Amino acid sequence: MKRLILVLVAAGLTGCLPVRRDTPLVGDLPGLTPAQARGQVVYMANCQQCHPGGSAGLGPALNDKPLPGFLIRFQVRHGLGAMPAFGPKDISEADLDALVEYVVRLQGVR
Ligand code: HEC
Repeated sequence: MKRLILVLVAAGLTGCLPVRRDTPLVGDLPGLTPAQARGQVVYMANCQQCHPGGSAGLGPALNDKPLPGFLIRFQVRHGLGAMPAFGPKDISEADLDALVEYVVRLQGVR
């Protein structure tokens, strides 16, 4: 038991355990699909200021948890707390689709 704990501590110290660090992912995302690339443009124009690179800024980090697409859509359309709502005039339906693909990609889960 003691040995197992030692191994786990050692693995943690040397970075072998899967620790998700809050590093900005924007700029070094290889091979964005066309939809994700479109979403990135929308993101930079509307979201980057508060969620820089998907990390926490004024708003919480988006890249450290698997937020489902419907929740991202809802949050964008309705806002919450300090986050403003973005109506279809701000972000079209097609742009929102692309944006969701990009945010999901930021999470690194797809
Ligand atoms: C003015 C700053 C601001 C802008 C611009 C902004 N957000 Fe936010 N966002 C926030 C804040 C603050 C919260 C936390 C709201 C709360 O829980 O009270 C948040 C929360 C979120 C959440 C929920 C995160 C979670 O942990 O549940 C998502 C998803 C999100 N924002 C996506 C976006 C997207 C996509 C855009 C661009 C269209 C955007 N935000 C633009 C400030 C902002």
